[in-house]
Amino acid sequence: TKDISILAIESSCDETSASIIVNGKVLNNIVATQSVHEKYGGVVPELASRAHQENLIPVVQEAVFSSGIAKEDLSAVAFTRGPGLMGSLLVGVSFAKAFAYGLGIPIIEVNHMHAHVLAHFIDEPKPEFPFICLTVSGGHTQLVLVKSHLEMEVIGETRDDAVGEAFDKTAKLLGLPYPGGPLIDKYAKAGNPRAFEFPITRMPELDYSFSGIKTAVLYFLRDQLATNPNFITENLNDLCASIQYSLIKMLTIKLEKAVKDYGVKNVAIAGGVSANSGLRQTLDELARKKGWELFVPKFEYCTDNAGMIAIAAHYKYLAGDFTTMDVAPLAKMKI
Ligand code: KG4
Ligand code: ZN
Repeated sequence: TKDISILAIESSCDETSASIIVNGKVLNNIVATQSVHEKYGGVVPELASRAHQENLIPVVQEAVFSSGIAKEDLSAVAFTRGPGLMGSLLVGVSFAKAFAYGLGIPIIEVNHMHAHVLAHFIDEPKPEFPFICLTVSGGHTQLVLVKSHLEMEVIGETRDDAVGEAFDKTAKLLGLPYPGGPLIDKYAKAGNPRAFEFPITRMPELDYSFSGIKTAVLYFLRDQLATNPNFITENLNDLCASIQYSLIKMLTIKLEKAVKDYGVKNVAIAGGVSANSGLRQTLDELARKKGWELFVPKFEYCTDNAGMIAIAAHYKYLAGDFTTMDVAPLAKMKI
């Protein structure tokens, strides 16, 4: 029987990525990060689209070349259909369609959030079904009940900002460069998480809200700076530790509730914020205390990457789930 070889493309936000997967094994994961956004303090959609269109072919060439597979031997081309920035998605979707048309092979659309969850199936150890995955990044905060590779249900999500956005926006208030999440993590290590008290917003059921903390930090800093202009520099570690404490608390309260409500034992985490050392430590402790089996993918597969699109496409290929050539990207797309 013939090998199943798929080229996968990810272009939903500001990473341009390509990956080759053969028979379920991810051979490579080439990512071009766009640095153009740094000076703007956030992703500028128009610039992201342009950078994707510049970077995509070189990234694909590198993935195909380093895989040792000839283009002509590919079985399908997969791409992120959504959710994401429309202009960014258009570049990846259009490329994937044209490339597949040229080769006369089918295309496979992948939901980006679905793929974040399936990143857990790239390497060992792989979680057993059912499990709950907390997907946390700059654009997403979701609790997903995963029943099989292709069957997932969102059981909770943010009603406003994503948690990574809350990290980045509060970091900006502290005068830190974008993206501020990793810097909050770094300074928090030397700070006291109980030094200042920031709100822990409690939403109904398994939903989240992360917009309140931004406003709370803004007003708190304004008051403190009025009497002490050096307040931030003198208290940076404690501020970062206290902000991080609130964000982690909000994440874990609902995760604990979800695990209890659904009676699962396997818990996974995905997305860029899962790199946060405070979150990892808190989850390790919780897992030990509660007897959970905890799964954290390699960092390379936590942030946006085509490896996760490739693994998702592999399962869709096995299920015969192909897409027609008139497909259009979706900025909003449900799991
Ligand atoms: O998954 P990702 O690379 O891109 C998407 O947003 O889809 O996630 C990026 C987000 C940013 O908000 C960044 O600040 C956050 O992940 N992040 C962190 C850490 N590393 C990345 N937040 C807190 N602590 C970290 N160590
Ligand atoms: Zn993502």
